[in-house]
Amino acid sequence: MDKLIIEGGKLLDGAITVSGAKNSSLPILAATLLTDSQCIVHGVPGVMDIRTMLKIIGALGIASQFERGSIVTNPASQDTCVAPYELVSTMRASICVLGPLLAKRGFAKVSLPGGCVIGPRPINLHLKGLAMMGAEIEIEGGYVIARAKQLKGRHVYLGGPFGSSVLATANIMMAATMAKGTTVIENAACEPEVVDLANFLNKMGAKIRGIKTHVIEVEGVKALAGAEHTIIPDRIETGTYLIAGILAAKDLTLKNIEVNHIRAILDILKEAGVSVKMHNGEISVRRVRRLRPSDVTTLPYPGFPTDMQAQMMALLCCADGISVITERVYPERFMHVSELNRMGAQIKLEGSSAIIRGKKKLSGAPVMASDLRASAALVLGGLVADGATEISRIYHLDRGYERLDEKLSGVGARIRREKA
Ligand code: EPZ
Repeated sequence: MDKLIIEGGKLLDGAITVSGAKNSSLPILAATLLTDSQCIVHGVPGVMDIRTMLKIIGALGIASQFERGSIVTNPASQDTCVAPYELVSTMRASICVLGPLLAKRGFAKVSLPGGCVIGPRPINLHLKGLAMMGAEIEIEGGYVIARAKQLKGRHVYLGGPFGSSVLATANIMMAATMAKGTTVIENAACEPEVVDLANFLNKMGAKIRGIKTHVIEVEGVKALAGAEHTIIPDRIETGTYLIAGILAAKDLTLKNIEVNHIRAILDILKEAGVSVKMHNGEISVRRVRRLRPSDVTTLPYPGFPTDMQAQMMALLCCADGISVITERVYPERFMHVSELNRMGAQIKLEGSSAIIRGKKKLSGAPVMASDLRASAALVLGGLVADGATEISRIYHLDRGYERLDEKLSGVGARIRREKA
């Protein structure tokens, strides 16, 4: 298992190119199950979760080649409709093969994803939606077994206790593309990754309207063709490097960004006293010595993303005063708090809120990564901490950030990877 060692206090200077969005690429790769033709997807990040998804669709009969950010998929067989526990248990996003399998092959057996360190992650909305469209669903031996000769277009309401669901929307939208009649998804998620998936599906010949809104209409079609598509820039990676810049850059430019996808992040940063420069589709940022504290609440898009909560916390640890972060998407997603506190931060948890007393300095310490975004927060803390920060279990980072250590060392960070 690799670990990262970061010597804090080095100034970052230069440019980083943001990769394509992992969370767009995953459902889009699952969507390739919907066609008998070749698909070509560009801008896919070379991260572990993508490799896992390629194994899953591979097990389901889709051959693929992944070279320099582009994936070419070719359907080879439809004999297997089982997404096995060994793969699904390593990545919850595997659940998004359920909708496409059912729509295209009429049968799906997908392992239940199980627990997760960021809190309970049920799939009741996915199952409710498919059942409303006429699927017969059983849970047996830890697997969801779903059957439907022909899914039917229906009104499907997808709200849960924490708002809309990204992957449930993706699953139902994919299933609906080949259903008989029109499906209306209410309280649909409108995250940019859902929009990217909808655009890909429409390129395949799907008839999806209401994209970017909370009411998506899908008119079923008989068959979908292959398509070629480029993945949107990763807004969470963009936000993560923006924070790196605010904490530690002489001048850091981010390339391949979509500013419209990061408005909620920019709004909070502005409140904290950060000004960014935007020019020709790039964004530049510098170190801010006196950050104002800020209150942040995570919400479904276009609200502040839960996937940026941990990184924002690392930033607010260095603000001049008390900030409060409230988590409204995953109320238990606070595994990074105790690790940041090991680095000298002063963070107290009150239910689903974290109260952060800003400090002038963090100090390097051995810490443990617990999930993808928590790991990113520890890296950010390490960039400004006094001394060395040693982050173990960084396979979490490798699941979702493409070459993070190389990208940061390319702009001057002192960060190295070692075998633990
Ligand atoms: C997606 O997960 C992302 N994953 C997550 O990114 C992200 O944190 C999350 O959306 C929220 O933005 C991918 O896109 C691959 P949800 P998803 O269903 O779709 C509850 C990262 O770090 N819920 O939108 O699984 C759920 O418990 C990750 O890249 C139900 O109650 O999340 C949560 O409280 C981690 N029933 C809320 O909805 C359901 O059936 C939102 O979850 C489904 C979800």
